[in-house]
Amino acid sequence: MQIKVLVAYASRYGSTQEVAEAIAITLRENGLVVDLEPMREVKVLEGYTAVVMGAPLYMLHWHKDARGFLSRHREALRDRPVAIFALGPFHDEEEDWKEAREQLDEELAKFPWLTPIAIEIFGGKFDPAKLRFPDNLIAILPASPLRKMPASDIRDWTAIRAWANDLAMQLQPALPQ
Ligand SMILES: Cc1cc2nc3c(=O)[nH]c(=O)nc-3n(C[C@H](O)[C@H](O)[C@H](O)COP(=O)(O)O)c2cc1C
Repeated sequence: MQIKVLVAYASRYGSTQEVAEAIAITLRENGLVVDLEPMREVKVLEGYTAVVMGAPLYMLHWHKDARGFLSRHREALRDRPVAIFALGPFHDEEEDWKEAREQLDEELAKFPWLTPIAIEIFGGKFDPAKLRFPDNLIAILPASPLRKMPASDIRDWTAIRAWANDLAMQLQPALPQ
């Protein structure tokens, strides 16, 4: 049986897109057929065995495209395995990971019909020089935690690939080993 997976992502500055690309490559290396698409361009989920959704956290919320995707495809997502990831923390600090997970859990609680087979937070990327309006203004507000923060990228590619490998194992029990 061919297992076809959609990796659907939302991204403002490209870092989540790059993670989605790495996940798609890893799933393919595991023998799965994978399509990679921005969430907002996905029309139907027919033909996909499973869906991987990835989007960043912004201002305590999951990217609006992710919330829109869940609302639009509710019926189809209820019938399929769904794996979820979000990008967020800039610092590898326990408190930051905990807060990001709480933010994502709060968002997912708005979709009680959703029962993901996997949920993961990956570290994010921050480049103050690339921020566009209104993020560039938010980043310089006196009370902003982003104020004077240097550029950083704590995406852990080993952890990202390991997560995708685990996911492939969950999705492909029917494939010959
Ligand atoms: C203005 C701004 C607000 C952010 N707010 C949050 C947040 O509330 N929680 C969080 O965990 N990460 C937050 N982040 C970090 C982003 O999720 C991180 O930079 C991510 O890698 C961005 O993904 P993208 O490049 O795909 O847009 C914020 C980043 C910016 C620039």
